[in-house]
Amino acid sequence: MSNLDRDNSLSKPTDWREWLKDLVRYKDTTLIASALAENLETIYKEFTFLDGDIVVASHPKSGTTWMQNIVSLVMNDGNPEKVQGQLLYLRVPWLEGKEDPECDCGYKLLEARSSPRLMKTHVYGPLVPRAMLDKAKIVYIVRNPKDVAVSYFHMHRAYQFLPYVPWDEFITELFLPGKLLYGPWHKHAIYWWEMSKSHSNILFLHYEALVKELKANVEKLAAFLGKKLTADAIEKVVEESFFTSMKANKEVNYSQVSVMGHEISPFIRKGKVGDWMNYFTTEQNRLFEQKFKAWMAQSDLQIDFV
Ligand code: A3P
Repeated sequence: MSNLDRDNSLSKPTDWREWLKDLVRYKDTTLIASALAENLETIYKEFTFLDGDIVVASHPKSGTTWMQNIVSLVMNDGNPEKVQGQLLYLRVPWLEGKEDPECDCGYKLLEARSSPRLMKTHVYGPLVPRAMLDKAKIVYIVRNPKDVAVSYFHMHRAYQFLPYVPWDEFITELFLPGKLLYGPWHKHAIYWWEMSKSHSNILFLHYEALVKELKANVEKLAAFLGKKLTADAIEKVVEESFFTSMKANKEVNYSQVSVMGHEISPFIRKGKVGDWMNYFTTEQNRLFEQKFKAWMAQSDLQIDFV
């Protein structure tokens, strides 16, 4: 049983090396908590994907919530009133997990819904259920791994069910060797990138591009999802998806989920490209660059770090 299944009274794991033992290398690929592995097994056996399902897929800390908000607004005609009062993580549930220990796992919430259902997943490409690939439209968001690492570090600092790991150990002993939930990053990103080349129902977007050109990316997404929105509606989606708007919006900023430890580090934290420069030492950056070069040797996936 994973900490993800326990209740709000859970105390933060104190020994991260002990905590690591709960993660399983699922089907020899990605590291996930045993509860997530169990949920995935159930999804493979029992969950029915429907034509019209829309999936936001990502490695954690890549702008998933941002994309969930955009997709949800686009699918609701750019009209925030249509989603008013609905928490984002319930509008777009996490297929194989749950953000709030008091809620049902995402696939259970989704079973009761009709098309078009919105969901998010962090599942690594080779583990994606065949039916999802056949039936759903999938939006994958990738983010440069240095900023992913920093954002992930803060999540570990804040979350009640994740252990605090000092930055030096976090980057060298956990992130780079791919020992975090859903790691390693490069396999996740590259596999999905390759899948997106052969599947027209996968749209591959970059966090850094969204930061630079939010409107153009919202338009691209709307076209991919087959939604014809007016210029005003697109503008509304953009406004509601600005970092400052999302940070202030209690329906999307996860402030309702106390296990996330917002008082230590808010979930919608900084939203910058290049925050990694405030964390990486020269030596850590050298090590990272060396690894990154090796990871990307066989791939044409382009990543912007600044
Ligand atoms: P930082 O911790 O670097 O600020 P995920 O949803 O995949 O866990 O990703 C979380 C990251 O996305 C956090 O990064 C968060 O601040 C950032 N984010 C969320 N909403 C955003 C927005 N509207 N604009 C830019 N970044 C956003």
